[in-house]
Amino acid sequence: FDLSARNTLGLPSHARHGGMLPDAGAMIEALAFARDKGLPFHLLGGGSNCVLAPQIEAVVGVSGMTGRWIDTSAPDAVRVTACAGESWPGLVEWSVAQGVSGLENLAGIPGTVGAAPIQNIGAYGVELSDIFESLIAFDTETSAFRRFDKAACRFAYRHSRFKEIPGRYIVTEVTLALPRPWRPVLRYAGLDALPAGSDARTIMQAVLALRGTKLPDWRETGNAGSFFHNPIVPEAEAARYAEVPGHAVEGGRKLSAGWLLEASGLKGYRCGDAGFSEQHALVLVNHGRATFDDVTRLAATAVERVRERFGVTLVQEPVTLG
Ligand code: EPU
Repeated sequence: FDLSARNTLGLPSHARHGGMLPDAGAMIEALAFARDKGLPFHLLGGGSNCVLAPQIEAVVGVSGMTGRWIDTSAPDAVRVTACAGESWPGLVEWSVAQGVSGLENLAGIPGTVGAAPIQNIGAYGVELSDIFESLIAFDTETSAFRRFDKAACRFAYRHSRFKEIPGRYIVTEVTLALPRPWRPVLRYAGLDALPAGSDARTIMQAVLALRGTKLPDWRETGNAGSFFHNPIVPEAEAARYAEVPGHAVEGGRKLSAGWLLEASGLKGYRCGDAGFSEQHALVLVNHGRATFDDVTRLAATAVERVRERFGVTLVQEPVTLG
């Protein structure tokens, strides 16, 4: 099953078996098939947060469940529910076009709805967990569907419980609760100049424009967004990193990984056809024919250099498969 056109980094990749999963029945069948073959099962959404090996000894299902609804009947929040295979950026644009406000800061993030809670996507001052209500996931251990509320998801920065035991739960549906009244989030640099009273559509356009100036479009230059987490150093060590741009978070200071990479001489640095973007050092890009090996060598070099120079160990954000 060819995955080469199904990952935004654009790495050539084949899975032993795989296919589209249009509904929950197909997903359950694919799981049974994998078990039968003694192979692991992986679910791929938009392939926008993964590094794929050339040959993956697994059954890979591509999330294809679609459907989305808006419920405006409750006074506290507008609820938006979508199936896992829906496009995330599509959901944001659609909801804003319907006059629903609250998702605008998360516009333009590639990937599917089902993948969004796994790493708790976040951008421009909003994290998914801020507007998340619940999700339904299939538990591959008990073969039962289960609903998780926000607390049960154990969200943190680019983290959820679904990352703790990879593959156990398969998200099938997500419900967001967008609080009423809506309060725009304009504190991120670049959005703070928008006039007070800007509507969600205006904010969404500003977010898309901002992303366009910072992040290469994967359709033109393959990439998987930020390649590392922004590392959090404990409060006691924060003084050592006074020169590094960042901000205070619970328990310490979150440093800008893009800055650390640039200061370590890695902006534009390449291994074969894989390189760190000249536009934004945190984005690892495919200059054309990058291989899995190029990417892993480049990532290892970056981790080593930043550790030597700053004593901080960067953690890779995209998941490696195979
Ligand atoms: N910077 C540099 N050199 C660079 C790039 C960045 O010095 O080459 C420094 C600058 O000081 C800049 C700061 O890094 O002000 C922050 O950069 P940016 O605003 O682009 O944000 P980021 O921390 O690099 C995070 C998320 C992005 C998200 C943006 C906007 C992570 C790992 N990344 O990036 O998420 O879009 O904030 O909110 O938290 C993703 O996860 O794939 C992703 C793109």
